[in-house]
Amino acid sequence: MAMTSLERAEAAEHAMSQELDRIVVKSAIYTSGERDPRQPLPPQQSQGKLYMMGPDPRLPLMPETPTLFDFFKLRFGPSAHVLQSARLAKKNGVSEKIVLGCLLHDISAMGFIRGDHGYWGAQLVEPYVDEEVSWAIRHHQVLRFFPDEAYGYKYPDSYIRLFGADYTPEPHLQEAHRRAREHKWYESSRLITVNDLYSFDPNVRVELEEFTDIVGRHFRQPKEGLGFDQSPSAHMWRTINHPTKYL
Ligand SMILES: [Fe+2]
Ligand SMILES: [Fe+2]
Repeated sequence: MAMTSLERAEAAEHAMSQELDRIVVKSAIYTSGERDPRQPLPPQQSQGKLYMMGPDPRLPLMPETPTLFDFFKLRFGPSAHVLQSARLAKKNGVSEKIVLGCLLHDISAMGFIRGDHGYWGAQLVEPYVDEEVSWAIRHHQVLRFFPDEAYGYKYPDSYIRLFGADYTPEPHLQEAHRRAREHKWYESSRLITVNDLYSFDPNVRVELEEFTDIVGRHFRQPKEGLGFDQSPSAHMWRTINHPTKYL
């Protein structure tokens, strides 16, 4: 007899917990809000089990020396938005560095942390790209909230739907915007927002490989693999690779 979808889900869940022979303790950021982080964690059924200190079997195994594309394929959420944004930027004739910026601009929201994703994303890539690219990624998040007629950039309708018509960026964002406008790389970041697609076309499929050459020329992949070099953001890539590592 065919299983119902509930039975299938339960079977999958069971298989998953069988497979997991290590104890997983979720980092505070996974659960803070859903639970009060000041409260002690509920006791674990440890029964002599060891804690997770390496690859989580519930996730696809990453290569030993992972590349940027490995993270796109094995750890990041759906990438149609950034791929289509990068293709649009290319079509609009921006520099290769800005195309790369468009390809990478939301990787934090896709694979790491959403809030302040521009800042987190910039930090992830900073050791591997020109300073202009990480600067542009860092500031795109703030610039999205502020129109700029000169570039034909209007406040996104989608933000009104998402945040309400009365949302105004907090003072620290106002200040970040003010400073960004005076910066020599303002245009680079503004171009990311101009090519940041509000909604992507589900019928258009863009392959990552379309950007192999641009990434090859402008993203300095460490030979040890992302996460295993000694760069200031290597630990962040390791956390994405092994998100349930206990320490
Ligand atoms: Fe963004
Ligand atoms: Fe975006």
